[in-house]
Amino acid sequence: MAMVCLTDFEKYAKEHLSKTAWDYFSAGADECYTRDDNLLAYKRIHLRPRVLRDVSESDTRTTVQGTEFSFPVGISTTAYHCLAWHEGETATARAAEALNTCYITSTTSTCSVEEIVAAAPNGYRWFQMVVYQDRRLTEQVVQRVEALGYKALVLTVDMPYLGKRHNNIRNQFKLPPHLQFKNFNGLQKQATVDPKAYITSDPSITWKEVHWLQSITSLPIIIKGILTKEDAVLAVEHSVQGIIVSNHGGRQLDGTLATIDALIEIVDAVKGRIEVYLDGGIRTGSDVLKALALGAKCVFIGRPVVWGLVYKGEEGVREVLQILKDEFRLAMTLSGCRNVAEINRNLIQFSKL
Ligand code: LAC
Repeated sequence: MAMVCLTDFEKYAKEHLSKTAWDYFSAGADECYTRDDNLLAYKRIHLRPRVLRDVSESDTRTTVQGTEFSFPVGISTTAYHCLAWHEGETATARAAEALNTCYITSTTSTCSVEEIVAAAPNGYRWFQMVVYQDRRLTEQVVQRVEALGYKALVLTVDMPYLGKRHNNIRNQFKLPPHLQFKNFNGLQKQATVDPKAYITSDPSITWKEVHWLQSITSLPIIIKGILTKEDAVLAVEHSVQGIIVSNHGGRQLDGTLATIDALIEIVDAVKGRIEVYLDGGIRTGSDVLKALALGAKCVFIGRPVVWGLVYKGEEGVREVLQILKDEFRLAMTLSGCRNVAEINRNLIQFSKL
């Protein structure tokens, strides 16, 4: 089967994953309105291409937090990669390294952060974390990833509780016994671990804990899960280095705006003071182009990476990234842009529907 576009990988994954694993990765909260709208929203946004602009040469590179990426797409955090492919996150990390882009490692990875770093020693990575009720444990995690060369902490703020995902409840989803939260081996005995304790954050946290995090690390802090201009302004005021506009792939609060729709007011409120990124719903190169035109510095993909893993591990993820890179270059040049600096809001026309 020739893989031509990202949805080909999704079809493959649906056919090859167990029902329980498919239901886990594809899940959205409640009626999945937000999960689905993350994709549909791109259909309501149209492009205004410019022509006759000499696009014989093009350059997809960009910089994120001062580091150069080969194109403006990174890998967002998703959990349990060993459920998708036996090598798990080590395969994902190698693919990200090969394509010279960022990989946000999940706290709940099924390979340890040490294994991930060893598999792709030159990869550029951020670490997704939550603030646990156990602050000492939180601090240990921060120190560990800092020592391993992670370049930023991505603080997930939309998960004080787990969203209600119908099929996961019906399936009584939990990690199969041969897989583990590898980052917590040794910290606590597996038998005593309540998985929820490592997934959701302490529900009592506020911006005070952001400040606390800043006091225990020298790494930049990127807040993931911002959906309003009010919180975006607070993020700037609390001196974080970036925002990921995210609704957790529609897995938490159903009924929020699609991330591409939420992006606009956030970019306007932030006024260039910190970088704004986005995840959720990116499936084509023109989706990437639209997000950049509306002010995202870079976008991140989640589920398509899992589908790539199911298909062929590292090679599958490389293919997913390469397809998106090629499609992005094509969309950019067909719009009359030679590089990311030439992409701006003039490219966008919203549908009147
Ligand atoms: C999820 C958690 C692990 O969405 O982030 O399933």
